[in-house]
Amino acid sequence: MFVQRDVVVRQASEADASGLARLLELFNGGSVDAATAARRLAALEGIETVFLAFRDGTPVGLSSIRIPPNLSEDVPYAELTELFVLPEYRRQGIGSLLMAAAEELARSKKATSIILLTGFKNATAQSFYRQVGYTDYALAMWRKLPQVSDAEVVS
Ligand SMILES: CC(C)(COP(=O)(O)OP(=O)(O)OC[C@H]1O[C@@H](n2cnc3c(N)ncnc32)[C@H](O)[C@@H]1OP(=O)(O)O)[C@@H](O)C(=O)NCCC(=O)NCCS
Repeated sequence: MFVQRDVVVRQASEADASGLARLLELFNGGSVDAATAARRLAALEGIETVFLAFRDGTPVGLSSIRIPPNLSEDVPYAELTELFVLPEYRRQGIGSLLMAAAEELARSKKATSIILLTGFKNATAQSFYRQVGYTDYALAMWRKLPQVSDAEVVS
């Protein structure tokens, strides 16, 4: 658990589902209910760890990190997959605390580095990541997979 002044960062559990759902809605838009958040959290078990930041008991931010084994090396590699702080709580060190919690877990699992994706146009996130020690590393590429309709699936 990470504590700084009145902010506590700890791993999310099923009991946090409604708070997590609210953060996911505000981060990604759309509608996420507590049952959906709980189901997604359960599906991450053993693959990815979610941290929540609380101020006065209210969830105000999240980070999420996966630390899979690595075919090319004996050490695992870590990937930060989510980072979000409610707008009214930004520039108060909460994003940094959420990163610290994710990095500490990665270190404890023997990962030696962390990779993350952020948008080319997300200047805020880029400034933040540079400030906490991250540098440009690779070009991310992306393709939307064509969906195969049931009729096309050959059994
Ligand atoms: C990126 C984000 C998580 C940062 O959270 P935060 O709680 O504001 O971060 P911190 O307060 O720990 O900031 C640490 C330092 O990062 C830098 N930083 C943070 N926000 C910044 C901004 N908008 N512009 C410039 N630098 C910024 C500053 O150097 C800051 O230190 P300072 O406030 O003493 O100057 C937050 O802005 C956010 O949730 N953004 C929307 C979601 C998002 O884009 N997530 C990343 C997806 S890849």
